[in-house]
Amino acid sequence: MHSTLLPKAELHLHIEGTLEPELAFALAARNGVELPYADTEELRRAYLFEDLQSFLDLYYGLMAVLHTEADFEELADAYLARAAEQGVRHAEIFFDPQAHTARGVDIGTVIEGLGRALDRSQERYGVSTRLIMCFLRDESAESALATLDAAKPYLHRITGVGLDSAEVGHPPAKFREVYEAAAALGLRRVAHAGEEGPAAYITEALDVLGVERIDHGLRCMEDASLVERLVRDRIPLTLCPLSNVRLRAVDVLESHPLPQMMAAGLLCTVNSDDPSYFGGYVGDTFHAVHEALALDHGQLRELARNSFLASFLEDDEALRER
Ligand code: ADE
Ligand code: ZN
Repeated sequence: MHSTLLPKAELHLHIEGTLEPELAFALAARNGVELPYADTEELRRAYLFEDLQSFLDLYYGLMAVLHTEADFEELADAYLARAAEQGVRHAEIFFDPQAHTARGVDIGTVIEGLGRALDRSQERYGVSTRLIMCFLRDESAESALATLDAAKPYLHRITGVGLDSAEVGHPPAKFREVYEAAAALGLRRVAHAGEEGPAAYITEALDVLGVERIDHGLRCMEDASLVERLVRDRIPLTLCPLSNVRLRAVDVLESHPLPQMMAAGLLCTVNSDDPSYFGGYVGDTFHAVHEALALDHGQLRELARNSFLASFLEDDEALRER
């Protein structure tokens, strides 16, 4: 089977990062929002990122077009349709409530809008879904706690919590209390760590936040004892190779450490992160690592199998999806 179409789960996907320029302009027109770009071409030309922060500035700015439940529904529906075309059978989807509530959009509008698309996804696209609510790590711990509190009426729609946004200078321990509260509510826990930040942030996310998966985790390779621990404890890493190139965490795809990470016995998965911005959905990502890193079909199948193993599907559900 062509690597793009291998049945797979996507575990690291920011729904706001699936906002394609065409939809952004359509929503801007519908909601009377003026974008600082003449057209979709000019917007696409702005996708020349220096680092994570320069991407985040554009990413948060473009969210100004998202206002109503219907907007969030349309955003998620468009992603699910594209994901299905690329072999995705299960998607664990991040969203950033604080990026919307800060603009005056109610958290219920966000969750119910996304939820409407997710509710139809299995039937329409054959894609099962989970929703993971991320806290912005460059906002305060109090803001994260208030966000968890505001999400309480919608917890039936939320499987877990995550941590994203600008990493360096915002270590995981800042969010100890909100992760404890999330665990007490029965929520699963993941966190971005070791994308731009040091390997020590990965260790801290495991020890202090009790996360089950590490999002990115790229920089674990700088700490041999951490690699040993991740291998021993079968902690999944949700790698995003195209994102790492665009945000300059690695120079070129050909030098991405994915093959070395797999060879070290790490439980690696590959994902798209923010596919509208980084040049490919997850099937495209499989194809790109196949070409650039000379991964063979056995290794691609291993990555696809890992994606179900690392998912929050129950064991029997994960087997059925594969
Ligand atoms: N938010 C969206 N994409 C992100 C990434 N790659 N790292 C941190 N925060 C993000
Ligand atoms: Zn991410």
